[in-house]
Order: sequence, then structure tokens, then C-alpha cells
Amino acid sequence: MHGEAATELVVDNHEQSDSVDNRVHDLLKAMGLDEKIGQMSQLQAGGGWIPDELADGIRRGQVGSVLNEPDVNIVNELQRIAVEESRLGIPLLMGRDVIHGFKTIFPIPLGQAATWNPAIIEAGARVSAEEAVCSGINWTFAPMIDITRDPRWGRIAESLGEDPYLCSVLGASMVRGFQGDSLSSPDSIAACAKHFAGYGAAEGGRDYNTANIPENEMRNVYLRPFKAAAEAGAASFMSAFCDLNGVPATGNQWLMKQVLREEWSYQGVVVSDWESIVEMSVHGFTHDDEEAAYEAAMAGIDMEMASTSYRDHLEGMVDEGKISLEQIDGMVERVLRLKFALGLFEQPYTDPSQHPEFLNKANLKAAKQAAMQSCVLLKNAQQTLPLSPAKLDAIALLGPLADDGFEQMGTWVFDGEASQSVTCRQAITELIGRTVEINYVKALETTRAASDDNFAEAISAVNQSDAAIIVVGEEAFMSGEAHSRASIDLPGQQQALIEAAASTGKPVIVVIMAGRPLTIEPLLPHADAVLYAWHPGTMGGPAIADLLFGLESPSGKLPVTFPRVVGQVPIHYAQKNTGRPATDETCVDINEVPPRAPQTSLGMTSFHLDAGYKPLFPFGYGLSYGKFQYVKITTSHHSIAMGQSLDVSADIVNMGSHAGEEVVQLYVRDLVGNVTRPVKELKGFRRVRMKPGERQRISFRLHTDDLAFYNRKMQLVTEPGQFHVWIGGSSDAPLWAEFEVHA
Ligand code: BGC
Repeated sequence: MHGEAATELVVDNHEQSDSVDNRVHDLLKAMGLDEKIGQMSQLQAGGGWIPDELADGIRRGQVGSVLNEPDVNIVNELQRIAVEESRLGIPLLMGRDVIHGFKTIFPIPLGQAATWNPAIIEAGARVSAEEAVCSGINWTFAPMIDITRDPRWGRIAESLGEDPYLCSVLGASMVRGFQGDSLSSPDSIAACAKHFAGYGAAEGGRDYNTANIPENEMRNVYLRPFKAAAEAGAASFMSAFCDLNGVPATGNQWLMKQVLREEWSYQGVVVSDWESIVEMSVHGFTHDDEEAAYEAAMAGIDMEMASTSYRDHLEGMVDEGKISLEQIDGMVERVLRLKFALGLFEQPYTDPSQHPEFLNKANLKAAKQAAMQSCVLLKNAQQTLPLSPAKLDAIALLGPLADDGFEQMGTWVFDGEASQSVTCRQAITELIGRTVEINYVKALETTRAASDDNFAEAISAVNQSDAAIIVVGEEAFMSGEAHSRASIDLPGQQQALIEAAASTGKPVIVVIMAGRPLTIEPLLPHADAVLYAWHPGTMGGPAIADLLFGLESPSGKLPVTFPRVVGQVPIHYAQKNTGRPATDETCVDINEVPPRAPQTSLGMTSFHLDAGYKPLFPFGYGLSYGKFQYVKITTSHHSIAMGQSLDVSADIVNMGSHAGEEVVQLYVRDLVGNVTRPVKELKGFRRVRMKPGERQRISFRLHTDDLAFYNRKMQLVTEPGQFHVWIGGSSDAPLWAEFEVHA
């Protein structure tokens, strides 16, 4: 016996009967409790076939969504069963992790973040949506907008970096890209802001680990991108796996109910992560699946992913009066509304012939553009780059990632095809192979390989060439979910390979493909130029080739701080000042300390004896073939009243002989706060293209609302006081001014 009997679906024909409100209402009236709970269940597909149990479940109205079925024929058949064979004919949400491309693979999200280009990110998500819909997918589990300051964490690859402002802007662009102008258009898919929240602060960078984040920091840092995603219309949110301050996010009523539903009035669907409801018992938060289902429902998780605790227990709890029918209706309503918004009731089926081809020219062009802007030039001694093919007879191309179409796609690639990737070797051959000899030696079987057996061949190739390009890094599996690392050094013998090549005296250009910042300080003295390409995706090769040979100038900027050694982690630019900030003067080098030095003669500030206080490369850093100089910062007002704006401007001059794009960045420091404020916070950025010798004046408008933060009482406030403001090409920019906000 359960709380509500199923009734026939009777749709009355009065005027407004086909408004979504009425249709949702009619459906809810007609649904039995088991059918309602069915809409709250997302099950895994069979992967290439339809298991009887899944088909039966759909027929009985016990499945609201299926995930991970990319075969359009199977998807259509699943939809047919739902629409034609289930009592109420409710179509399915078809979910898939379309994280950085479907067939056309874009750079990993961290690489995309390095473009600092919202338009590129939106275009990438648009392409991904257009390709995914061909397979009947209508819901992606992206963007991942977890702030993380820990490159050990494998999922940093999937993130948009360390900064809440950058991540908010770019995450919102991704949402817009996936969802298009309207969810109902045939090439739109629903986005999912994940993982709500705090997942990126996993202890020690170990995936799935505990996050302890004070509420104030939660609101000022970790929640901001989610608020932006909600405001951008993200159709769904996913709860995080982690324990957040003692309460798993999936059962965290403060997070899910108070913040998301009450404070932000979020109306979209909230889905759990994979079995994250039943894992609450493993966390030690609930005793069993039933209690876990209860806690998740009370927190407001509308849909359970993969596990079946809702299906197994919610009905009983409703019968016992523990959970109200009203609450269930609210959850089901959100799921139904999403299905209506996607137009699934009108068109549940997919006809691939109605969509553009996978990997079409325009898509590949977009992927190349994204890869090109994602590459960050970290070093370019004596203008080694760009290489001029006219001045080269032969080039050595070395390294385990120079010709590997699979690894360059990076983590979270389910549907991309390695055979479609264009590698560095292919692209460089295509670009210069007619006039320049290319001496390719892989040298190391994988990035981890221990054997240096092929080094002699590699060195001989370099000796026969004018320069060496060495493509090293991490294989795709070394980052991503559950793939954290405790050491973030360049794996295996790759450092030795670089040193061996450098010992020839020939110019050495290192290209690094990786899912995270690596601790690459040891290779810098041996490399004349270093280009950080992340995992650049399908079109990585052509993008890198164009940059190396100067068809385009590098313009990526780091979306995350690069530590010198892993022991500095977490290290990020928006740190607090502390009571004893380190300076060059106070920082002591462990190697320069005399024997029996008294403790108090050393520094007494916040730094590491063996690593100093500075990162290897700061957030926002990245070189160009252009040479940008910032001068003449001004503010339109010395003092503004609350509610007013001021303009901050600076001149930028391209002193170099190459054109290039520069990402101009605006940072602010609020000197005194009700809670201590970061030493710098990104408040704006803009990409500008500049010819050699060109000078441009760039202005940013800052409103006092842009200076707001959550205070001790968790109120969002802008406080009167003094502010410093910087404009420059990285978070280390020296050019600054000041202004005041008065009450
Ligand atoms: C991940 C999610 C992902 C889901 C579905 C989980 O393991 O944490 O990010 O969307 O699986 O594949």
C-alpha cells in the first residue's frame, strides 16, 4: 500500500491546458508514487545493449534518466520504450559526461581556462552540445567549477583553475555554450554545475577526500562560481562526493537547502554524484541506504545517480509520513520541467541526419583556436621561439607525447577518437616537412618509462638537427577522477631526456602536455623555451605547430599558480597577508644558514626554508612573441561613494616586433576588512590584440558592488576604506594605484 494511487492521465482541454504548468500539474496528478520516484532515478545504460532490467524499469515508469549511452540507436530505442510503452509516456533525460568535447575534443577544461577567453569557451561548449545531441544526449555533467588550489588533485584537469572570478566568468560561458539560446532548441543540452560544493579542497589532494572549509571562505571562494552558474541559467547541479565540514555534501542541508534553494532560489534539478547517496553510509554519516536516501531527500537531491536507494526506500518513508508527498512532488516537478524545457515531450527521438557531421571543419577550427589560445609560453630565452623554417635544415622531434593522438586528448574523453587527433609530429610535418627534415625519435615509450635505451638515437637526431622540440608531460590517465599524484614532477626519465638533448648545445624547446601544473623548475635551465600545452585535444598538434613556427603568438595565461616544489601546495595568488608576510629580505635560504644559527635570526616570516615564498610561475602569467609593457595607471576618482563606480585605466604598449594578444588583468586589494581580505583578487580581464609598436589605453569599470565580500556575519558587504588596484599581465603585475570608498 502506498501513499498515492496512480490515476489515468486526463488532460482537460481548457485554454491553457498545454502550458507547461498545466502539463506538469496533470502529470503529477496522474502519477503513482512509484512513478514519481521513478522520475527521481537515474540508471546506468548497458553500454552497447539494453539490459532487460533497464527496459522493464523504463516500461514500468521507474526510470527518469539513463546515463552513459552514446549509441543513438539504443538511445532512440530507450526513448521509444519510455514514450510508447510506459503508462504515462514520459521521455528520458539522457546524461553523459561531455566534459571538453564529444567527438571533437577541446583542450581539457584547465587548458581552456588558460585562454581566459569566455567566447572561446562558449564556442567550445556549443560545438560539444551540437555533437552530443546527434547521439541523443540531452544532458551533460559539466561544467565542473570546483575551485582548487591543489595540483596534486587529479581533477584539477577538469577544473577552471584556482580563482573564483575567472571560474565564475568562464563557467557561466560554458553553461551558455551547452544550453544555447534556449534549452528547447534541437542542438542544446542541459548543463550541470558540479560538484556542489567544496570537492576541490579534498585533503592532501586525494580524490573523494574530506573538505573542511570555513563558511566564510566557502561563500567568498568556493560557492561563487556556482552562484554565477545558477545565474547563468544552469539547468542542473550535481552534489559533491565529499564530506564538507562533517556533513557529506549530498546530505548537507545547509548547502543544498539553505544556500542553494532558499538564498539563491535555485529552481533547477539537483542530481547526486555517482552513488554519492549510498556512500553517505560509508562516510559514517548514515547507518544504511534507507537513512542515506532520507538525508539526501531532506537535503533536496532530486535525482539519484546510479544507486537505487530512492527506488528502494522512498515509498516506504512516504507511507510512514517521514517524507511528505508534497516534497516528492516538488522534486519530481523539477525533473519534469527540465524535460519540458528540453522539448523532449515534443521530440524525444534523435535523427542524426538532421545534425551537422561530427568533427566537421568548423568544429575542428574551433578546437584548434581553443588549443592555440590555451598554450602558455613559460620561457623564451633569447627569443628562441618562434622558429623560422627558412633558417632550418633539420629539426629533431622527440618525446613520448610528440606523436600520440590518444594521450593528447587528456582525461574524461569517452567519445573522442584518437585516430582523429592531429599530433605534433603530423602537424609539424605538414607545416614545414617539405623544406625541413624532421628527425623524429620517440625516445621514451611512455611518460613514465624508466629505460633510457633510446637516448643515444635521440641525441644523434639532435646532433643532426638545428634544434630540438621535445614533447613531454603526463599521459592522459595521470590526471582526472581518482588519479591524483603525490609527486607532481615530470614523470620517468623525461627530465633526463631533456638534459641529454640540451647537452648537445642545440636549442631545446620543451612542449609540455599535462593535466595539472607540474613542478618543472629542474628543467628550466636546460630548455631555451617552454610551452605549456596542457592536454590540448584533437587539434593540439596544429595549434602547437602554428605557435612554434610563429603563425600565431602564444596568448594563454596560467589559470592556476605553478609551485616550485609540491611541498608549497596549497599556494595561490589570492592568499591572505598573514601577520608576518615574507619578503625577499626576510626569506632565508636553507643553504646559506651558518652552523648553529639561533632560531630567531632566521626570517621569522611565512615561507619555506627550502622553497622560499614565491611560486615558480604566478597565476595569470604567460609570455607572448609580442612584448607588452604597462604604463600610466590612473583612476577616474580618488574616492567614490558606496554605490558608485570608478574607471581604472592603463596604457599598454607592444614593444616587440611581433603582433600578439595579451590578456590584460585587473586586481584589487581591500586593505582592511571585517574578515581579512586576500592580498590580491582578480576583478576583471580583457584580451586585446596588438600590432608591433601599438599603444592602447585599457579601462575597467569597478562598481563598489564588485568589491563586496561575505563578512563575519555572512552578509555580503562592501566596506568603506582604502583599496589598491593593479593592471598588468599577471597577478604579479607591479603597476598599481589606490582609491577610497567612502560611506
Ligand atoms: C563523477 C562525476 C560524473 C559522474 C558520471 C562521477 O564519478 O564524479 O563528475 O559526472 O561520475 O559519470
